Amino acid sequence: MSFPNLIDGRAIAEQIHAETAQRVEALKARGIQPSLLFVRVGEDPASKVYVGMKEKTSARLGIVSETRVLPEATTQAELLLLLEQANADSRIHGILVQAPLPKHIDERVVYASVAPGKDVDGFHPINVGKLMLGDSTGFLPCTPAGVHELLIRSGVKTDGAEVVVLGRGNIVGKPMASILIQKSRHANATVTVCHSASRHVKEHCLRADIIVAALGSAKFVTADMVKPGAVVVDVGVNRVSDPSAKGGSRLVGDVDFDAVQPIAGRITPNPGGVGPMTIAMLLQNTVRAAEMATR
Ligand code: GUN
Repeated sequence: MSFPNLIDGRAIAEQIHAETAQRVEALKARGIQPSLLFVRVGEDPASKVYVGMKEKTSARLGIVSETRVLPEATTQAELLLLLEQANADSRIHGILVQAPLPKHIDERVVYASVAPGKDVDGFHPINVGKLMLGDSTGFLPCTPAGVHELLIRSGVKTDGAEVVVLGRGNIVGKPMASILIQKSRHANATVTVCHSASRHVKEHCLRADIIVAALGSAKFVTADMVKPGAVVVDVGVNRVSDPSAKGGSRLVGDVDFDAVQPIAGRITPNPGGVGPMTIAMLLQNTVRAAEMATR
């Protein structure tokens, strides 16, 4: 698959990996081994795949990682105790608790219990607050930070642009909007956030210079919703049934790629767009956590 208007997330992620690997080397030359703790609770199949990919890429860049897999029946208190120990362990620079967590565990309490300086997911309320305030000393959540970096490195101008973010989740939609409204270089956009109660979603989208689709609805963005020349970023990962596919299902994005690609100015493929960037930003956050902890 090759189209002239594709935004190649894999290639841009590799550029960032190369930068991160150099920073890892610089730390190692000072006797510091950057390290990352993954915590996975239960056996969610998608989480296994995601954490596996993050582990592999960490190792490739010279970041040491450990994965603690806890049983589904783990109590919240047990998980918090593990985080307390990891927070206190100076050999661990970054901590990532993979979502989703079992229903009996309150994600909000868990994410607020990761030390803000080790919160490479950017989910701690302090880091969320710093994002809102435009304080760059915090950690940005990896997926929206990755989308932002894709736009910057693809030369997409956001200054004064009309952006529509589809979805208002805490992991992507809300922080994506916060990043793009900042009064700063590479931001400065006019952002509209559409969600499940929004009216006139198509009309909002048709005004957009940039659409970021992160609502979790397969092929939601269709050709009639996109202004010719607009930049379309597909964050969605939706499993849909497909009897002809291996295992009876396959993954599709939030954008109807085949229909939208011919009219978009630039578009991310899916897979190969936002996904690799999420990992790139995680490892960039991790090396930064290690630099900050050992300055
Ligand atoms: N589950 C889906 N996306 C994410 C993410 O960015 N971080 C974590 N920890 N879990 C997730």
